[in-house]
Amino acid sequence: MKERRTLDPRIDMQRLPRHIAIVMDGNGRWAERHHKRRVEGHEAGARGVRAVIEACRELGVPVLSLYAFSTENWRRSKTEVNALFRLMSKYIHREIDEIHENNIRVRFMGRWEGLPRKAADDLRYCLELTRNNTALDVCVALNYGGRAELADAARRIAEKAAAGEIRPDEVDETMLAAHLYVPDHPEVDLLIRTSGEMRISNFMLWQASYAEFLFPETLWPDFDKQCLCDAIVEYQRRARRFGGRT
Ligand code: FPP
Repeated sequence: MKERRTLDPRIDMQRLPRHIAIVMDGNGRWAERHHKRRVEGHEAGARGVRAVIEACRELGVPVLSLYAFSTENWRRSKTEVNALFRLMSKYIHREIDEIHENNIRVRFMGRWEGLPRKAADDLRYCLELTRNNTALDVCVALNYGGRAELADAARRIAEKAAAGEIRPDEVDETMLAAHLYVPDHPEVDLLIRTSGEMRISNFMLWQASYAEFLFPETLWPDFDKQCLCDAIVEYQRRARRFGGRT
């Protein structure tokens, strides 16, 4: 088998994170600093998405989850919300063929209800087109909230219990995990939030229970491949104990 290209010689290719999750923060501040409109900050942010997808693909990180739009983001101005969804559709049309050629699978995490029709249709197209791809799963969190995800899982379990398909005493952590939006993904190993903000903001509350957290100061549009490599190097420096003592 062809040896994987090492983007950064400091990275131990045997100990890559299996799942990297990113809160892509700082587009607005980037725009402000460059005397641009907020939407231009998001456009620059979309270019950053390409950089991290390429880096994960080249390194062989199997799962990348990206927080693109939270259940709280609906509070932003209608202009910004519309611009964000338009941008995502534009991104899909521009990038999907190359994503597919690179054997990358697009996944979705969030509530379909409430998504603009066009965004939902475009996303469904990506999911369907790439469903058999195996090199990297890119999971887009849209209209996503960690609490909403847990509430949705609890509701589906309760419905099964009410229908007599499961007994309440069978409900445990394994069952709850099996009812998350993307149950086949491994837990998050490395969670990155850019722009120096140190909050989890309702992202992957269950899956990030034992994640290593990194809060680089870099604003999302400036977060490039090298920034991702730096984050992985830092992740590998940290001893991971999972509550034990090793
Ligand atoms: C946070 O920056 C960013 C978002 C709410 C949107 C993230 C969206 C993208 C990067 C664009 C496209 C995404 C995909 C998947 C193609 P902010 O506006 O909160 O920045 P601020 O805190 O500096 O104001």
